[in-house]
Amino acid sequence: MVPAICTMDDLQALEQRALDELAGCQSEEALRAWNSRYLGRQGELTLALKKIGSLPASQRPAYGQAVNRLKESLQQAYNRQQSALREQVIARRLASEALDVTLPGRQPSRGRLHPATQMMREILAIFAEMGFQIFHSREVEDDLTNFELLNMPPHHPARDLWDTFYTTRPGIILRTHTSPGQIHVMRRLCPQPIRVVLPGMCYRYEQITPRSEIMFQQVEGLAVGTRVRLTDLVGTIQAFARRLFGRDRQVRLRSSYFPFTEPSLEVDVSCLVCGGRGCSLCKHTGWLEIMGAGMVHPVVLRNGGYDPSRFSGFAFGLGPQRITMLLYGVPDIRLFWSNDLRFLRQF
Ligand code: PHE
Repeated sequence: MVPAICTMDDLQALEQRALDELAGCQSEEALRAWNSRYLGRQGELTLALKKIGSLPASQRPAYGQAVNRLKESLQQAYNRQQSALREQVIARRLASEALDVTLPGRQPSRGRLHPATQMMREILAIFAEMGFQIFHSREVEDDLTNFELLNMPPHHPARDLWDTFYTTRPGIILRTHTSPGQIHVMRRLCPQPIRVVLPGMCYRYEQITPRSEIMFQQVEGLAVGTRVRLTDLVGTIQAFARRLFGRDRQVRLRSSYFPFTEPSLEVDVSCLVCGGRGCSLCKHTGWLEIMGAGMVHPVVLRNGGYDPSRFSGFAFGLGPQRITMLLYGVPDIRLFWSNDLRFLRQF
């Protein structure tokens, strides 16, 4: 039963009662019930306003205003109680559900560059700073470019140095070294001077062992010009070796043989482990071999389109996998392509 209210005193009593009850509302549910009981469309204030008709006309304006004021102040009280209640709920949850905002977040797992890519980029960056351009040559080659144009006729014994993967197409092979790229570069750029490096994969039909793989990368270097000398080759190799292996690295040149260079050299650096005193890595020689090199053979220059009486050049070829093995003590070349994350993650 809703009491009949139509005096100012009644309004005051109503206000007191409403506020007392509101103070006792400790849940959203109780609040909602209170709201509809007092402020709802059929609530006590609506009823109180309806009673206005029973008042003498002179009292109606004051009474109406009083009801409206009351309605407004109850609405505000309601809002206050509601936000106080919500804050309490949050405070209680914060107290009971401990959230340690200082805990480190979950690390997203990040990929990284393959050690072969890392070493390749490092090597290329060094040569790029010395003014070498990067040239990409094909991996599927023809016999002519891989051997013949490099001064190895079909029955030349030097072919035995490289066991070759042949394809079912006669004369089409997988390149055994990056040196055929020399021919492609020369034929493309002739008669301009050349200073390029050619990175890429090479293939050899060999027994796979800890020291030899059937695929591996090489970086070929080639410089051709009218005044390129052996001393330019030596200076280039020394600068490269110091940049990659450190300032105190000694470089040693040994005379060697390649069909496409004359004279030919093999390049050693002082052992990275023992510094030259002798250890198992350098097989007690104190030296580690890092590349083959030499002055471009006149026949090769001519095959590339350059007149060997006017032009000369140097070339070198090095193996990034071998260098990584020496630098980081990798014991087995097969680790490079075996995709073992335990190995790859160390770089
Ligand atoms: N192509 C040679 C090899 O694979 C390396 C080399 C390159 C030697 C250039 C001399 C000049 O062993």
